[in-house]
Amino acid sequence: MDIGGPTDRDGGGESGTPTGRPLSADDFRHRPGRPDEPQRTFHPRRASLGRDRAADLARLWPRFGLSVHDEALGRGPRTPGALLDTAALFGRTAPLVLEIGPGMGAATVAMAAADPGRDVLAVEAHLPGIAALLSLVERHGLTNVRVVHGDALELVRDLPPGSFDEVRAYFPDPWPKQRHARRRLARPDTVALLRDRLVVGGLLHLATDAPDYAAQMLAVLTADPGLANVDAADGYTPRPTHRPTTAFERKAAVAGRGSRDLVFRRVR
Ligand SMILES: C[S@@+](CC[C@H](N)C(=O)[O-])C[C@H]1O[C@@H](n2cnc3c(N)ncnc32)[C@H](O)[C@@H]1O
Repeated sequence: MDIGGPTDRDGGGESGTPTGRPLSADDFRHRPGRPDEPQRTFHPRRASLGRDRAADLARLWPRFGLSVHDEALGRGPRTPGALLDTAALFGRTAPLVLEIGPGMGAATVAMAAADPGRDVLAVEAHLPGIAALLSLVERHGLTNVRVVHGDALELVRDLPPGSFDEVRAYFPDPWPKQRHARRRLARPDTVALLRDRLVVGGLLHLATDAPDYAAQMLAVLTADPGLANVDAADGYTPRPTHRPTTAFERKAAVAGRGSRDLVFRRVR
């Protein structure tokens, strides 16, 4: 089944409930960015799924899936500026983790399974990752993960300060060409935005295998006046044992690239 896949066309059909709503191709349309927004940190790509993946997606979407445009995520006219209604999303109120770009989601489910006291919103722009993560959530019987399709930054911009207990982005696209530098996630403006959406005391955890991007992350996070490095040595954090190796990271390791972790805390 080809459900259309993400495109930059303007989509309709934005309303709906957080869960229980059947899948609609409109859920997977990226809207054109507003002129005042920085360039996206991903390339919208068309994606077709195999039959089994598509069937999983259709079956699991009403239970665990949302679009960043869903009113359930606080973006609708009913709840402008309100904190996310985690009770409606997860059936309980618990600290919330945002993961930006979970890819196929193996690290997401492992970390969520090991951390049942917190809920995870995993926001991925690419449809195959959404379908893979939904399958894993079901297979592991997880109740503390919701899988969100779309641009995580679009969602984050519309949420109020203090929405998240932790924000994580593992191996965000490195955008190595100079002309794409503005697409990197770890820019000062984006880091300031993510920090603001953390509770005071909340963590921002990034990892990358690109040496120059690691250096940029360290410089940008260190320069942010509201963040403090949790690592006493004031540099990269030794790889946290709770972060599993991601698919992307494994490929990087095979190619001889090691990874760096950065963990910073919002201090004010
Ligand atoms: C290089 S992959 C890494 C995936 C995974 N974290 C891993 O380590 O295997 C980066 C992922 O981030 C997603 N991504 C990039 N920018 C995003 C955004 N603004 N919102 C949601 N997903 C994004 C991409 O679609 C891609 O799947």
